[in-house]
Amino acid sequence: MRRLVVLVSLLVGLPLAAAGQDLRLPNKEGSVKFAVIGDSGQPGKGQNAIASQMTAWRSRFPFEFVLMTGDNLYGSERPGDYQKKFEIPYRPLLNAGVKFYASLGNHDDAEQRLYKHFNMNGEKYYSFKPKGGVRFFAVDTNYVDDKQLQWLDKELTASGSDWKIAFFHHPLYSSGETHGSADLQRELLEPVFLKHGVNVVIAGHEHFYERLKPQKGIAYFTLGSSAKLRKGDLRKTAMTAYGNDSDYAFMLVEIAGDEMYYQAISDKGVTLDAGSIRRAGNVEPTKNVTAQPVVPQAKPSPRQPGPAGTSGSK
Ligand SMILES: [Fe+2]
Repeated sequence: MRRLVVLVSLLVGLPLAAAGQDLRLPNKEGSVKFAVIGDSGQPGKGQNAIASQMTAWRSRFPFEFVLMTGDNLYGSERPGDYQKKFEIPYRPLLNAGVKFYASLGNHDDAEQRLYKHFNMNGEKYYSFKPKGGVRFFAVDTNYVDDKQLQWLDKELTASGSDWKIAFFHHPLYSSGETHGSADLQRELLEPVFLKHGVNVVIAGHEHFYERLKPQKGIAYFTLGSSAKLRKGDLRKTAMTAYGNDSDYAFMLVEIAGDEMYYQAISDKGVTLDAGSIRRAGNVEPTKNVTAQPVVPQAKPSPRQPGPAGTSGSK
């Protein structure tokens, strides 16, 4: 039977699982389902393997869109580069109608805001609401000026009780050896996040995966290893809840009611990290706590089978 599965996988070009796969998300009907990639604009085996895994996992967990945490295209950005570094590797997802929402990294030309598949509506920073209850904010951390801060303040004010998820390139908190926390951006953005109850922040720039302990009630993830990897660069600190700097990775995320489930998966289909957080209600914001803090869930994530022919997890 195993031989048959391997043969079928080879014939149809599906990725073979190494240690196996299992879905740790509830996969509820009507929930908000998405994936995250970061620092993804580098053609090669890492990018190809992650793209293949995303396609395989989507057969089990039908995510509708993908957040990009920046450095979407490394090197030259001619029309052919958009194809080579983005459209070709992610073609099966694009053909399936999956939408990609990009934020700009330090390697990205601002012209990317005009590229239709990045869904930036011609703006370097923007927000969108894919369906009820959740709103996303793509921030341009290359240059945080007053104009952007005023825009963010206005958009967050208008977002009411929605989940508020910000995504951008430079991590405000990071245990990376190469970059570390982006102090300047944190100084500018964090007060706005706290005031309006941002719940989750997802960044890139560091070529690894790190889940941080909530900082002032905000959940922080760093994912910048979807095509490049900086092995050994994660120096775990007191902020680190989990980290991986030895595998290419992407994330699956699901929001259902006041709970958000996450699962980080490697290029080999191995689950690296999984769990959930819960919104704990509204509080009076201060400089030490966000207006809508999240808390890690004590209960374990549910286990369900992953794509066909796989089982188990790391
Ligand atoms: Fe970067």
